[in-house]
Order: sequence, then structure tokens, then C-alpha cells
Amino acid sequence: MSFDTKDYLDRRKEIVDRSLREYLPPHKAETKLHQSIVYSIHPGGKRLRPILCLAAAELICGSHKNVLPAACAIEMIHTYSIIHDDLPSMDDDDIRRGKSSNHRVFGEAVATLAGDALLTDAFSLITEKLLEEGMSSELILRVISIISEAAGSRGMVLGQAFDLEMDEGEHLLVNEISNTYLMKTAKMIEASVLSGAMLAGAGEGELSRLKSYSEKIGVAFQIKDDILDVTGNHDATQESKGKNGEKKHTYVSIMGVQASKAKVSELTNQAIGELEGFHKTPNPLREIAIWLSEREE
Ligand code: IPE
Ligand code: IPE
Ligand code: MG
Ligand code: MG
Repeated sequence: MSFDTKDYLDRRKEIVDRSLREYLPPHKAETKLHQSIVYSIHPGGKRLRPILCLAAAELICGSHKNVLPAACAIEMIHTYSIIHDDLPSMDDDDIRRGKSSNHRVFGEAVATLAGDALLTDAFSLITEKLLEEGMSSELILRVISIISEAAGSRGMVLGQAFDLEMDEGEHLLVNEISNTYLMKTAKMIEASVLSGAMLAGAGEGELSRLKSYSEKIGVAFQIKDDILDVTGNHDATQESKGKNGEKKHTYVSIMGVQASKAKVSELTNQAIGELEGFHKTPNPLREIAIWLSEREE
């Protein structure tokens, strides 16, 4: 029987949404800060990162039972990153996930604090809930280490800093763009896959192959995002602006749409190649890689 990727993703998204409502109950949003947090967390977007976390756990041990706190924590960190990404001092975007961006509703100060809170609360959630699930302290520390490194100044935040330098006026090499995408997007995708796999008991060899898989789908995902910005039905916002109000370079603006599509296919095939050692059919990580490369939104 063929694998129904859409059905798989819908079911996992429901599980993630339910857990996020449990961890961040909308009806308990009494202060402006909590309303701002809830506004960006629910109903949310594709939930790609937590779904990858669940899928990686399923690949390793056949179940995603114990990884939901880590999956939701990663979605909280992702949500913080996009709230801050939309701020006037960053991309200055008014629309996110089909509605007004957080700072347009709650103001810049509260939006900044909502992001700060989501980042910090993500680590409380992991610690508290994974201990409750009976995970060993050592495993919890390894997961915290993976996620914090991916999110911080050696990962996503560094990528965001590189991104600030991508004004069209600047000369940029294609491998500088790829490296920015590796940092700003792929690192959190990698942390999602690795934390799910690690909590499910993956060995070092498996983690190393999954790291390589994640880097490739992560960069492909961001290039695909650029392609959709040009050709697809993404949020109709103004173009993201660089620090001098200029348009920004993207992989597509430098390489063109055709070469960018070819790069997405190449990276996706390489990512799938990394999964060869895992004897599970169908393999959800393989199907997700294909789905990401073919998505239209
Ligand atoms: C948006 O990520 C930011 C990027 C790294 C391109 P997603 O496309 O995963 O956003 P949501 O969570 O589905 O809205
Ligand atoms: C967002 O990248 C990446 C992070 C928030 C880490 P972009 O700025 O390219 O993504 P969109 O277009 O705003 O979703
Ligand atoms: Mg940005
Ligand atoms: Mg942006």
C-alpha cells in the first residue's frame, strides 16, 4: 500500500496541536504577554519541525510517545524566531501565517518579550515534562545541548545575523547564501530530527546519518521557500528588506529559479540517500523530504 504523506502529516499535526494546547492553554492567556504568545502559537503553521521530531522517533523505535515535550519546545523556539524575524528592525513584515504579525497586534515591546518567553519556556518544558516521562537526566541534558546549540549564536541566531548582511547591494557568493541557510533554517530542523531520534534511543551512527539528512532537507527547504516567494502563494507581504531598506539576496535571486529547483532536487536526493541504512518501509522521513521538495505553499 502506498504511503499517504498528507494523511501522515495531518495526523501528526493534530497530535502536536493538541499537546501545544495542553502546554500553552489558550484560555489561560490572561496577560497581554500571554495573549501575544498564544496568538502566535495557535493555530500555528505547518508544524514541520515537531512533525520531524516525531517522525525521527518513529523511525528509530516505532513510537513517538516520549518525544512530544521536545517536539513542542522546538515549535515554541521556531515561533519565537519568526516573531522576532518579522520585527521592524529585522524583516519588517506585517503578515505571518495569513494574519497580522505579532508586533502589528501587540506592539514591538510585547512581541519581543513573547519571543523571549517562548525561547526560555521551551527549555522549562523540556526539563519538566521529560523528567515526568521518566527520561534519564543525561539524555535530557544531551537534548537540551543539541537544541540550545542549534538555536543560539552558533546556529539559527548566527544565520539570522548573516541574513542581515544579504542586501542586494553587497557582493555575495552562492556558498555564503547556502551557509546562511544552513544556519538560519537547517540547524533547527537538524535539532528536531536529532532530538526525536536521540530520545528514541538512536545510536551514534544513526545520529550522524540523520544529521546529514537534516542539513540537506533544511537547506532545500529554505531554497524552496525562496522559490515559492517568487512563484507561489506565500503570504503576500512586501519583500523582506535588508538593513538599508534594500531588497535582499536569496538563492533564487543569485542562481535563478531553474537552478534553484535543480538544487532542491539534488539536496533532496542526497538526503534520501542518507536514509538507506534505515530498514523501515515506508520511511516517513523519506516521504517528508519528497513532500517538502514538491510543496506548493
Ligand atoms: C518559516 O518556516 C521560516 C523559514 C525558516 C522559512 P515555516 O515555513 O516552517 O513556517 P510555519 O511554521 O509553517 O509558518
Ligand atoms: C526566517 O527566514 C528564518 C528564521 C526565522 C530563523 P525568512 O525571513 O527567510 O523567512 P520568512 O519568509 O520570513 O518566513
Ligand atoms: Mg528573515
Ligand atoms: Mg522573514
